[in-house]
This record gives sequence, structure tokens and C-alpha cells, in this order.
Amino acid sequence: MSVWKRKDLLGLRDLSREEIAAILETAKSFKPLLFREVKKVPTLKGWTVANLFFEPSTRTRVSFELAEKRLSADTVNISSSVSSVIKGETLLDTAKNLRSLVCEIIVIRHSIAGAPHLLAKRLADVGVINAGDGINEHPTQALLDMFSMQERFGRIEGLRVLIVGDILHSRVARSNIWGLRKMKAEVSVCGPLTLMPKGIDKFARVYTNLDEALIDKDAVIFLRIQRERQNSGLFPSLREYHRLYGMTEERMGRLSSKTVIMHPGPVNRGIEMVPMVADGDRSIILEQVTNGVAVRMAILYLISTVVRR
Ligand code: CP
Repeated sequence: MSVWKRKDLLGLRDLSREEIAAILETAKSFKPLLFREVKKVPTLKGWTVANLFFEPSTRTRVSFELAEKRLSADTVNISSSVSSVIKGETLLDTAKNLRSLVCEIIVIRHSIAGAPHLLAKRLADVGVINAGDGINEHPTQALLDMFSMQERFGRIEGLRVLIVGDILHSRVARSNIWGLRKMKAEVSVCGPLTLMPKGIDKFARVYTNLDEALIDKDAVIFLRIQRERQNSGLFPSLREYHRLYGMTEERMGRLSSKTVIMHPGPVNRGIEMVPMVADGDRSIILEQVTNGVAVRMAILYLISTVVRR
């Protein structure tokens, strides 16, 4: 019997180890399809999925759309600039209208933490997938990160994973911390103390020195530095940030030969890492992107087994 009983995927904080394992296992079975000549299965034929992106996105938006198409669903794409939200319609009204247009699953990215939770609660017969809500969670990113680690190392349990950068404002960091801990990885974080959430030391080992943090790690996830925070006083200049927390050729030379470099994208080249690191043979950044399609196919499929039509 399937362990998956949820109509929504809102975050990894609430998911069990078994539920996360079920998503990763299902994604593994979908991945070979991405390289077949005919990259399509009829699993979601007759279903309609609405992608509601109220914040910019390349990877998440495109990989959700491709995942839906690979599963034979019909898709509609809506951004805030072309929706009636700019005429004053509420998010809930927009979603109710999509339900009336018989969209059975809504994928939503929104700047307000909790926006997907509101839709999930108010729309009992629609599946809701969180594609990133404010600084709260980005569950599908963390799932594709874990899938990529599992693919590379054959396991997640016991892996020593370091997350570097603006932990305070990162939904990717939050989802990874919840997910990796459930899967029994050892999680560490590194960055300026001004960019660490209060109480983070209960969930992860905290470093402020990158050279110390990098010792003996299996996977290092660099987070995008949010340039919009440059003048907030929370971190030094971009040049200073790169000197203290950027991945350089010299730092690469001191890493264990098995350590992989990860980044959710978009990468600020020369800030989080130099191009030689982003493009080097230890980087699995583009594998992460490919895996995003398989992981999102798995989530769409599992949710479709629960949504009442
Ligand atoms: N990783 C990620 O969320 O990238 P996008 O903003 O391009 O979707």
C-alpha cells in the first residue's frame, strides 16, 4: 500500500522519512523516460495543471511544465503580470476560478510565505504544490537536491552536507534542512552570523569560517546571494562576501576528491563561486536541473493518486 496520502505538497517540515523516500523512489522510476525518444507517458492524460508563478523563475517553472507535459497533462501558465491579480483579484479568487475551469492541480510560487497553504486549505478538491513561498520553503528544490545526492552517492543517510550563504532568507536552505535531517544526513550551515536564523544550531552545525566548514564534506550547496540585500548591512560587500564565502579554485584544491558542488540556481558567477567551479567536473548543478523534471513528475503523479476528481 502506498505511503502517500496527501493531496498537497506544501513543505518538507511535515513530511515523514517514508513519504520523502516514496517521492525519491518514484522519481527514480521516471528518470529514464527523460532520455527516451518518446518522452511521454499517459499517466495524467485528461488532467489539467495550472502553474501560477507570481515571482520570477526559470528552472522551477520550466521543469514543472515539462514534467506535466511528459505525464500528458494539459497545462496553463499564469504569471502575476498577465493575470487579473493586477486588477485587484485576490489569490484565492484566482484559484477558485481555476478550479471552475477544471484545473485539478495548482502549482504556485508566491512571495508571501503561506500562500500555498491558504489555497490547499480552502480548495478541498484541488491538489496544491508549493513551488517556493516567500522565505518559508521550496520543497521540490530540496527533493531534487536529495535525489541528486542519492544518485551520486547511492544514499543520503550519513552524508555530510554543508549549506553555504544566506541561510536566514533561504527557502531552499529551510527545506533542505528539514528533508536532509529526516533522511538522516549530517547537516551543517556556513555564512555570516547576521544571515543565520536564531536557533539554527538546534538543527544544524553552524560555521562562520568556510575553510573550516569545507573539511570532510560530501556535498556543498551554495545558495544564491540575494543582491537585493546588498545594502541591508547584513553582509559585507559582494567582493568581501566572495573572499569569505565564495568557492574559489584554491578552495577546490583543498576539497576531498569526492565532494560535489551544488547550487539551486541562478548562480551569481564570481560571487558564490568562480566559473571554473560552476563549470568544473565536481559540479552537479546541471544534473540537479535535469533531476528536477523527474522529481516533479513523481510529485504530480503521487498527488494525482489522492485528489478527488
Ligand atoms: N532553483 C530555483 O528555484 O530556480 P528558479 O528561481 O529559476 O525557479
